[in-house]
Amino acid sequence: MSPRTIASLAALGLFGLLAACSNKADQAKEQAISATEAGTMYQASELAALMRAMASGHEANKAKFAAGEWDADVLRNWREVHANMQSAQATKPNEIGEVFREKSSEYLERMDAVIGLVEANAPQSEKRDAYNALIETCVACHQQHCQGPIPRIQKMKLPADAATGNE
Ligand code: HEC
Repeated sequence: MSPRTIASLAALGLFGLLAACSNKADQAKEQAISATEAGTMYQASELAALMRAMASGHEANKAKFAAGEWDADVLRNWREVHANMQSAQATKPNEIGEVFREKSSEYLERMDAVIGLVEANAPQSEKRDAYNALIETCVACHQQHCQGPIPRIQKMKLPADAATGNE
């Protein structure tokens, strides 16, 4: 990730105090540490910060879908930013291996598929299915790497009846 991308993520307030992958005891410890060490707060890894941005982006995207407001330019821009997941520093770099590389490529390919459908002005139902397949790659990677956020990610999927509007 470029320093500029990191700086803009930081400016958006995306460097939080706690890593969602850690368990409750670790989180309590981190909280205690950051409470006592004024100024030297826990910083999320580059990858964790990027993931937080991806998560809030997709959550906002879900509402826009029903309104038929997906924009190919916006999604292309995201794809460029999300591609940084392949080089961003992780909290546990030694866990980043073959599965991660495979799933991150799959994520980007499915992002391309969604962008293609938006550009082609495809029916909402097709966009919904491609989008849910994209979110499924988040879940698949998380089953290997970081299970904490899975319930939150599952909620990003579009329900079957979401395909209303500009059909
Ligand atoms: C290729 C694997 C992979 C994909 C795909 C993936 N993630 Fe992640 N995600 C990770 C890993 C690994 C971490 C742990 C990052 C760290 O701590 O450095 C993580 C962390 C997170 C976190 C916790 C960040 C924090 O605060 O610590 C959230 C939330 C998250 N991902 C959401 C998503 C969403 C939403 C998607 C899809 C839009 C997604 N992830 C796709 C591997 C992936």
